[in-house]
Amino acid sequence: MKNIEIIGTGRSIPSKVVTNDDLAKIVDTSDEWISTRTGIRQRRFCDEGESANSLAIAAAAKAIAASGLAPEDIGVCICATISGNYATPSMACIVQRELGLRECIPALDVNAACSGFLYGIEVARGLLNGTGENYALVVGCEQLSKLLDMTDRSTCVLFGDGAGAAVVRISDDAPYASTLGARGGYEISVLGAGPEPSHIHMDGAEVFKFATNIIPKCIGELEKKSGIGIDGVSKVVCHQANERIIDSCIRRMKADSSKFYKNMDRFGNTSAASVPIALSELVENGEVKDGDLLMMVGFGAGLTWAGALVRYAGQ
Ligand code: UT7
Repeated sequence: MKNIEIIGTGRSIPSKVVTNDDLAKIVDTSDEWISTRTGIRQRRFCDEGESANSLAIAAAAKAIAASGLAPEDIGVCICATISGNYATPSMACIVQRELGLRECIPALDVNAACSGFLYGIEVARGLLNGTGENYALVVGCEQLSKLLDMTDRSTCVLFGDGAGAAVVRISDDAPYASTLGARGGYEISVLGAGPEPSHIHMDGAEVFKFATNIIPKCIGELEKKSGIGIDGVSKVVCHQANERIIDSCIRRMKADSSKFYKNMDRFGNTSAASVPIALSELVENGEVKDGDLLMMVGFGAGLTWAGALVRYAGQ
């Protein structure tokens, strides 16, 4: 099976800024508690006229433009989300239609919560190899604000909305490694079967323990498979759930903290969107350049986890 590399990135961030002080007006919390426990200072929520699908379409269009390709070059369309506008049609089918991608290509959503974008990257690799196509679009997009119980301070302060996207291409020589896993459980759940609106529930302490164990494990797996460790990559992009999770892993691995990107202060936890939003910021601000290697790690509901070591081959 051939490897893949990333050739274009994009993101779309909704317009409504919600600060910790804004939330302190509606639940019993404070900027001090949220920022010291999580590193989050504000998040974005969709405003009128914005939705998960509109963010996904905008981020995907930017990633395709950045790749230098035309929509008709895309051979696989994958959206990672747990909060698309509809159960069906999938977000991927709406992106396919709105961007004018070809009709004879696979378009599907991936539900792996905060690991979804990296699951999507590996699914894209498999489908590209299986179909003989050269380019795939992978989007991570969430509108978690609609799943929040705004009376539950233990969850409503953590999450935000947003979208990130990447175009990947088949490569004969790019280094690449991936690791994926799942351990079914209800530690983070959105159990919506009845007429009541469904909300995110989470056992924060259990998930914190899980996350601090799984990040070093994923990074170790990637190193074992590729022979490339943190020293050999330009940046490590972890899912942006909580600054303390990332800092604890850095301490445990005695890793160079400057390699680990963080932007949860501005966006909170955007689940499947967090890794591709960070990736798109890194490319835009020049911290990731043509030829650089990246490690990316996701973890979250399912429970699921995923890691990828990928080369960025941008313009
Ligand atoms: O994307 C999926 C992956 N998700 C994650 O990785 C999340 C992992 N978990 C976490 O990040 C942390 O566990 C949280 C940020 C969710 C919670 O932090 P914590 O340090 O584990 O706090 P806690 O749940 O142990 O709660 C400590 C106290 C409790 O009060 P008592 O029982 O000690 O009196 C909570 O009721 O903090 C209270 N608390 C709050 N206080 C003010 C919980 N939420 C809040 C809040 N504001 N928003």
